[in-house]
Amino acid sequence: MSADPFHLAWFTPFKAPAWKSPWASDTALTWFNGDYYIDMAKQLERAGFDFMMFEDSTLVSNSYGGTTENDLKHALHAPKADPVPLLPLLAAATDHMGFIATMSTSFYPPFIVARVMATMDHLTRGRIGWNVVTSSEDLAGQNYGLDQLLQHDERYDMAEEFVTVVKNLWDSWEPGAIVADRETGYYADHTKVHEINHVGKYFKVRGPLNLPAGPQGHPVICQAGGSPKGRDFAAKHANVLLASTGSAEAMKEYRDDIRARAAAHGRNPDEVKVMFIIQPVLGETQADAEELFDRTYEMSQAQIETLLGIMSITMEIDFKQFDLDKPLPDDVQTNGHQSGLAGFRKAAGGRTIREALSARPGGVRLVGTPDSVAEQMDEVMEFVGGDGFLIRGEPVRTHSRRYIDEIASGLAPALRRRGLIRSDYDKSTFKANLASF
Ligand SMILES: Cc1cc2nc3c(=O)[nH]c(=O)nc-3n(C[C@H](O)[C@H](O)[C@H](O)COP(=O)(O)O)c2cc1C
Repeated sequence: MSADPFHLAWFTPFKAPAWKSPWASDTALTWFNGDYYIDMAKQLERAGFDFMMFEDSTLVSNSYGGTTENDLKHALHAPKADPVPLLPLLAAATDHMGFIATMSTSFYPPFIVARVMATMDHLTRGRIGWNVVTSSEDLAGQNYGLDQLLQHDERYDMAEEFVTVVKNLWDSWEPGAIVADRETGYYADHTKVHEINHVGKYFKVRGPLNLPAGPQGHPVICQAGGSPKGRDFAAKHANVLLASTGSAEAMKEYRDDIRARAAAHGRNPDEVKVMFIIQPVLGETQADAEELFDRTYEMSQAQIETLLGIMSITMEIDFKQFDLDKPLPDDVQTNGHQSGLAGFRKAAGGRTIREALSARPGGVRLVGTPDSVAEQMDEVMEFVGGDGFLIRGEPVRTHSRRYIDEIASGLAPALRRRGLIRSDYDKSTFKANLASF
């Protein structure tokens, strides 16, 4: 058994939980007020989670079949609320855990991101992070005056400049710039607050930021690049990386690659924590869990519409146009999630679209009792080398208070009994807790 603890986090949008589940309760309608997520944060902190990460997108999509029907019918990407204002509420209800919100480098001005994050870092006393995404939907771009997004790789060039500007703004106040000295009459010392005068290919920003950075200085930076360009960007800037790779071998390959890229950028690879998405299915017995797993992944018409709908949105390819009983044509390309398309092709391996969809989620299969799943997670982590898991409720059926409780009251204690996750938070900021093992 591995002696090293690993990090545990939860991945979620700020949207309706699994509203079709018999355990949805009134959260199907009341999630907008944030209480569901506030309760979740308290519960996950008691269980020893490191952070909650909120993904985001800003569109109602008609990519599937040229209508918004599928997106709204199944509540796929919409309705979805902005996680940024939710974060301070979650922090106010908890004491230690970190919270990450997503803001896109294709849509925000960097000054606003720098200012919002610095403000939230103060409000939360150093417990926030920024998931840096380049976005993948032209339809979202059309909400911000763009006809289409830049090409995939160029979006990362823009993100590179964006992040540089944001970091320079966070650094534009020297430590000690605020003196609040009644005798000299100075609140802030202007000689310690500097313009950044950035003039680049995509942005022109004078600076300085109009407030000093918060307790973390630079809040935690999170990224999920899957393409070579995305991986390199993430390895250069991120404190925490999210990956949805399947098998333990693929996880190890991804983490080794990221660590090598981080070292090539002159970073200590241990500063970059790679978190792998998992969807454990838990039962009181192995048979219970297996039965639940089968029911969860039954290929109903609604499930097909959901899976194809999500792929259509993130890749901006109309999957409704294809014959499901044939393989995906070779010439299909995307300017959206490239690794998503590549992953689908690889998983399909020449099978028809329907067969590929019907396959159970590949890779590491975490189905069983809390103790047996904890043991499997231990084995996988030991093989991969670190750094943690990001739990995600299966969006249509299992993201409910009941599932959160299964994880927080069943799986997390089983992991804790084995010394695999933290039993307390010894540092005061999210970033420091993340770096502590
Ligand atoms: C766990 C995870 C979370 C992600 N969250 C978001 C998100 O909130 N918003 C978004 O536009 N993209 C999100 N993405 C997409 C990534 O930012 C990235 O674009 C994707 O993994 C494809 O990699 P690539 O951009 O290098 O091709 C996420 C991806 C993963 C794996």
